[in-house]
Amino acid sequence: MSSLSRTASLKQRTQIVGSPRAVASPRITRKSWNSGPVLIGVVIGLVVSFFLAVGLRYLYVLPSLTQAFHDDSVSHLNDSGNSCDVFDGNWVLDYRYPLYNASECPFVEQGFNCLENGRMDKEYLKWRWKPKNCDIPRFNVMSILEMFRNRRIVFVGDSMSRTQWESLICMLMTGVEDKRSVYEVNGSKITKQIRFLGVRFSSFNFTIEFYRSVFLVQHSWAPKRGPKRVRSTLKLDELDDISDEWINTDVLIFNSGQWWVPGKLFGTGCYFQIGNSLKLGMSIGTAFRTALGTWSSWVDTMINPNRTRVFFRTFEPSHWSGDETLRLCNMTSQPLSETEGKDSSPFSDTVFDVVKNMAVPVTVLHITPLSAFRRDAHVGIWSDKPNMSDCSHWCLPGVPDIWNEILFQLLPGFKDASSE
Ligand SMILES: *[C@@H]1O[C@H](CO)[C@@H](O)[C@H](O)[C@H]1NC(C)=O
Ligand SMILES: *[C@@H]1O[C@H](CO)[C@@H](O)[C@H](O)[C@H]1NC(C)=O
Ligand SMILES: *[C@@H]1O[C@H](CO)[C@@H](O)[C@H](O)[C@H]1NC(C)=O
Ligand SMILES: *[C@@H]1O[C@H](CO)[C@@H](O)[C@H](O)[C@H]1NC(C)=O
Ligand SMILES: *[C@@H]1O[C@H](CO)[C@@H](O)[C@H](O)[C@H]1NC(C)=O
Ligand SMILES: *[C@@H]1O[C@H](CO)[C@@H](O)[C@H](O)[C@H]1NC(C)=O
Ligand SMILES: *[C@@H]1O[C@H](CO)[C@@H](O)[C@H](O)[C@H]1NC(C)=O
Repeated sequence: MSSLSRTASLKQRTQIVGSPRAVASPRITRKSWNSGPVLIGVVIGLVVSFFLAVGLRYLYVLPSLTQAFHDDSVSHLNDSGNSCDVFDGNWVLDYRYPLYNASECPFVEQGFNCLENGRMDKEYLKWRWKPKNCDIPRFNVMSILEMFRNRRIVFVGDSMSRTQWESLICMLMTGVEDKRSVYEVNGSKITKQIRFLGVRFSSFNFTIEFYRSVFLVQHSWAPKRGPKRVRSTLKLDELDDISDEWINTDVLIFNSGQWWVPGKLFGTGCYFQIGNSLKLGMSIGTAFRTALGTWSSWVDTMINPNRTRVFFRTFEPSHWSGDETLRLCNMTSQPLSETEGKDSSPFSDTVFDVVKNMAVPVTVLHITPLSAFRRDAHVGIWSDKPNMSDCSHWCLPGVPDIWNEILFQLLPGFKDASSE
């Protein structure tokens, strides 16, 4: 009996870990999404963390990497109209896009290569993100390749992190003549469940890695004496056991959010745990905040800010319509003119809240609002499973390329290039 249920939960677990298709739009909503107070909160948070950090800098004389971060926060603070908030802007047509051809890049998984999977309309490939008071520097592959020389860039998160990882590799491969000099270190194929992928650019001596950790905290077997419906737990007070691999890196980019939904948690028998105690009644929002607290303590104790630039990418909005029983993916051929309320997310708000109390500076890649316009840019029916529609993942080339362009801008050395 007990071994039977173990088998059952093993299956269940495989299923939890292996079904990115069922990514759902989060059902956590707040009564009012008045962005005013949220914005003020964020601004106050940034002010507080700025002064804290300035204090720390005088104490420890942190070098330029960290300084670049603080300069960014200053520009986010300054709302006088002349400063640049790269996350506030709109999409403009630009026929110099896309930045690469997915069919010529071995690191785009088939499911994201929409053109090859039969998508006919092409305008979705031609949009550039235009911040209000500045421009994102035009992608210059050689300068990024040089910037990454001898470095280790690591993405940690779910399939949305994997997409950004694929996008970054393909953007950079356009500047590499000998494509064979770019390879996955273990010869692994890209699959949806794979825990580690590492692509080495051998002529430039850097790697771009991806660690699959959809919750960031440890997923494990249910405790022995728990209710029957509990098949596995998320240990909210323990970071994922592969986290040791994330330590000695130059750029570290996290995400999490898409898996924090009832269907992927309670629906599969996965509940929350802190220490030895099950937290059956805990809400997903509280659990996410607790998990990010664990993540932030880990970053503060394990990450050396002199070496590592840490980013957290906010929630990637999906564009499902219909209700929970009949989810429709009705895409458009052009970006929306309104974000239809998808420009904010409780997950993104939590990221801001947690990050502002940290000792190690973390840059929030607040891609929620800009991605919210892009109902045209999802995989839709042009995936590797043509009879299933997907309004969560994004076509490549596409929106994740823009996330990377913003990443480049926020990395040191690229700030000054933004001007108008
Ligand atoms: C904000 O930016 C403007 C123009 O760049 C500058 O004149 C002003 O002093 C800045 N304000 C603060 C608080 O830094
Ligand atoms: C991408 O590359 C493939 C293979 O080289 C080619 O057939 C296709 O026309 C290219 N697509 C675009 C949009 O350039
Ligand atoms: C490659 O980069 C590593 C750091 O990631 C460095 O230790 C090593 O010396 C570099 N190798 C060469 C040949 O530059
Ligand atoms: C993959 O490569 C890394 C680094 O080269 C190595 O530490 C790891 O053991 C390899 N994993 C597998 C599954 O081969
Ligand atoms: C960061 O660098 C400063 C100055 O070199 C040094 O004093 C400090 O101990 C370093 N911090 C860490 C965590 O290594
Ligand atoms: C899909 O969206 C378009 C434009 O938003 C709308 O006109 C159309 O009725 C929608 N179709 C369905 C099946 O919801
Ligand atoms: C979708 O595809 C699967 C296998 O790829 C097949 O079993 C199923 O019948 C298909 N469903 C529809 C509605 O075509």
